[in-house]
Amino acid sequence: MFPVLLLFLLSPTATLTVMAQDSDFSTDQQKNNIGTKFIVAFPENIAYYHPILPFNSIEVTTLYDQTKVQIKTHNQLFWLETLTAGETRNVFIDVSLELKKTNMSNEAVVVLSNKDIVVNAITLKDNSVQTALVIPTDKLSTRYLIPPLPNITGATVDTSLAVTERRPFKLVIISGDRPTTVSVVGQNPQEFSLQPQQVAQILVKKEDKLKEVHTDHPVAVLLSHACVLRSSCTCGLLQSTLLPAKNHTLRFFIPPALASRTSNTLILVSSSLLVDYDPTSPVLETSGAAILYRPGLLLNLIPETDFASCFVVNGISLMENSIVIVIHKDFTDGVRIGDAPLQSPGWQKLQGTNYMSTEVVVEPGKHVVWHTYANMAVYFLGSKSDVPYGNPAAAISTSPDFRGCVVIPEVLLIGDVAAGWRESVKFCRDRDLELVSLSSSENITHIYSEIEKAKNGSEEDVWIGLRRSSHNGEWYWLNGEDVGGVNWDDGEPGTMNDGQCAIMSLKSGKDFGWRDDDCCMAARPVCYRRPLLFPL
Ligand SMILES: *[C@@H]1O[C@H](CO)[C@@H](O)[C@H](O)[C@H]1NC(C)=O
Ligand SMILES: *[C@@H]1O[C@H](CO)[C@@H](O)[C@H](O)[C@H]1NC(C)=O
Ligand SMILES: *[C@@H]1O[C@H](CO)[C@@H](O)[C@H](O)[C@H]1NC(C)=O
Ligand SMILES: *[C@@H]1O[C@H](CO)[C@@H](O)[C@H](O)[C@H]1NC(C)=O
Ligand SMILES: *[C@@H]1O[C@H](CO)[C@@H](O)[C@H](O)[C@H]1NC(C)=O
Repeated sequence: MFPVLLLFLLSPTATLTVMAQDSDFSTDQQKNNIGTKFIVAFPENIAYYHPILPFNSIEVTTLYDQTKVQIKTHNQLFWLETLTAGETRNVFIDVSLELKKTNMSNEAVVVLSNKDIVVNAITLKDNSVQTALVIPTDKLSTRYLIPPLPNITGATVDTSLAVTERRPFKLVIISGDRPTTVSVVGQNPQEFSLQPQQVAQILVKKEDKLKEVHTDHPVAVLLSHACVLRSSCTCGLLQSTLLPAKNHTLRFFIPPALASRTSNTLILVSSSLLVDYDPTSPVLETSGAAILYRPGLLLNLIPETDFASCFVVNGISLMENSIVIVIHKDFTDGVRIGDAPLQSPGWQKLQGTNYMSTEVVVEPGKHVVWHTYANMAVYFLGSKSDVPYGNPAAAISTSPDFRGCVVIPEVLLIGDVAAGWRESVKFCRDRDLELVSLSSSENITHIYSEIEKAKNGSEEDVWIGLRRSSHNGEWYWLNGEDVGGVNWDDGEPGTMNDGQCAIMSLKSGKDFGWRDDDCCMAARPVCYRRPLLFPL
């Protein structure tokens, strides 16, 4: 059912080494869903009882080349083959790891990688499909608010606990790397402790009026129901990740495409409010999280503070997949899917706001949704036999760029130390940058405009990465490319005797013109690194 499956099983004697994060790849723009360590659990899915087995999988998408991913359970360890940037792998998770009815278990799954990745958990059993974007362990919290739960026939009204379909929702609490105590706060509070990577399941009974989960050390929390009744005597799994509680007010724009066309849609606000979704009033301001509920779907809404410039969506084979986008009305022209502008977008205004939304049907497989100059919200929405599933799309970047989906933003830095050309090369390299090469593969107009911004009024000359070969007197760029189009000042360059290195003028009216100069002269360097882009 998935395009690529399976992985390689290591010999059981393999020792587990936690791989160090490659420090070259840290970025200050990390999104909430990007990381190198994740913990997941697969809530029990008893829909379509016998004989259909659940198909649970972890979907990993890499951001960098040479990514090594390891999947660890309480008794097994798997490695995926080394992946390149932008690859997606689905790893089938053994059915035995689906949670049972017991309130405590060791059935967590840990995903580790040497470089940043995003992880989705997918559970599928015939027409019961649920997907969840997994939060990396370093972004988990010690405090979660339990939202009010909708009344769903069968799931919450009957208080008999004997039959799973008549049980209430449950919280699935997964501990991180450290033992922790857990308090579930409410009218009928519960306290217990968890060992690392242990899973607890707590029934959310109406009369207990459970409000919050508090722990000593970070945990992940899912809200799930094993078998919510549907029409024609069927039922389906329902699940959603709870997002860490935030104290400040968040603003949510709720696109009509997420709402049901045939039944009520509710918004579960974690500050204990349950509201009917009203398309004429699609903005919600609240502290805490907001989850959209409609039959078959619990979906975390994306607050405005989490808008991003690039998202990746993996459409599932043999199902209907779509992308829902929310963006400011003035920025709709910059949306791209893959390398193409958005086709037939059919933007709809969110009433009473400056925002617009659209739904675009996509094929199964990977889609990169990015913006050339602004941030937006993107959801993945799918359906199987008219029952929806979905999640906020995985955000890759918050640095919009006309070139694509930025994993590591471009850097242009005019150094603060005036030194010789050779020292300037070192100054840049010490910062993982390179003295700028203005060769033909660069967008030189763009680099000049970045230099204009970085020069901050200074008119002093600066070193660039161009010098004369002492062997043959030819000019060459540090990046090894041909000199190509040049920007020498009038009468420049002079002879070999005038100097072996090229310096750039920042004086107004000089148009960044170059001349040759003595390499030992002191000037500040222009250091540069291209953005690293996510493959489209
Ligand atoms: C789990 O169930 C056992 C036995 O029913 C009970 O003693 C224990 O307190 C429960 N733990 C939690 C976390 O509810
Ligand atoms: C859910 O059902 C209970 C009891 O039937 C009722 O008191 C409550 O108002 C209902 N809640 C919602 C949000 O409909
Ligand atoms: C949010 O508020 C709660 C309760 O007032 C407090 O315990 C917690 O530390 C606060 N969290 C943050 C991130 O400020
Ligand atoms: C060069 O960069 C500018 C932005 O500074 C952009 O508008 C232009 O399209 C780019 N040209 C090419 C060929 O990419
Ligand atoms: C720009 O120049 C001003 C005054 O010359 C200085 O105060 C400021 O710190 C500079 N900004 C940067 C980013 O270097």
